[in-house]
Amino acid sequence: MLVQELHEKGNRTVVMGRSRTKLDDLEKCFDTVTAYPCDLSRRGQVEEAMDQITARHPDISLLINNAAVQFTPTFIADDFEYSGIDVEITTNLTAPLSITSLFLSSVLPRQSQARIVNISSGLAFYPKTGSAVYCATKAAIHSVSQSLRYQLEKTPVAVTEVILPLVDTPMTHGRGSGKLSAKDAATAIIEGIEAGRDEIYVGKARFLLPLMRVAPGIVKRMMKRY
Ligand SMILES: NC(=O)c1ccc[n+]([C@@H]2O[C@H](COP(=O)([O-])OP(=O)(O)OC[C@H]3O[C@@H](n4cnc5c(N)ncnc54)[C@H](OP(=O)(O)O)[C@@H]3O)[C@@H](O)[C@H]2O)c1
Repeated sequence: MLVQELHEKGNRTVVMGRSRTKLDDLEKCFDTVTAYPCDLSRRGQVEEAMDQITARHPDISLLINNAAVQFTPTFIADDFEYSGIDVEITTNLTAPLSITSLFLSSVLPRQSQARIVNISSGLAFYPKTGSAVYCATKAAIHSVSQSLRYQLEKTPVAVTEVILPLVDTPMTHGRGSGKLSAKDAATAIIEGIEAGRDEIYVGKARFLLPLMRVAPGIVKRMMKRY
């Protein structure tokens, strides 16, 4: 959906993804898209793809760190997978940070304006019971977004954090209700980027900050079951 929104607004987009079939489909659907295969849980592949991207597309001025995985079993569940801890942290945190660092090396000497957008979640502020590692990676993304914003204050690079509510995507398939459509989420994200916002609270996530101030206990209980 994000790619479609960017396409409709006339942007050229470079996409990294692990499924060659999905990347081929994207390139077929949108003539503005150039795709690079890359499994974000593999550091070597991230570095290789970023080498190619920064060499071939030196004019890129917007980075959106969107991909993530969420494993739901609790640590004491029978289907909890020990190896998933590393996959989740590498995909959700190490990869976006590596890409950000490589993007900055390329963009800082060249661009007069650029933006890094990190897709985060209400769970960054209040974790739920399941998906402990996922919640921790989103809390880290929130923290890093703030630090990076400080670090880049005197540069032309801005940092945006997007705080999403429950969105109807494959990640939340079969769970939750009252979900925001992926299309509406993508529209809100692009509008927020165009408005130059540092933090974009999307849909119901807009109520999070005011509720945290007046009734933190209620929010905590609500998010525990999220
Ligand atoms: N859905 C929600 O309710 C919700 C709420 C808050 C925040 N978010 C955040 O929104 C962002 C988008 O999530 P989504 O809901 O769209 O989830 P999604 O439907 O599961 O999509 C996640 C995307 O990440 C890609 N990905 C996962 N692991 C990868 C890897 N190792 N290498 C390359 N690509 C990989 C997936 O590729 P494949 O297609 O190959 O799997 C997919 O395109 C994430 O940062 C998520 O944390 C979502």
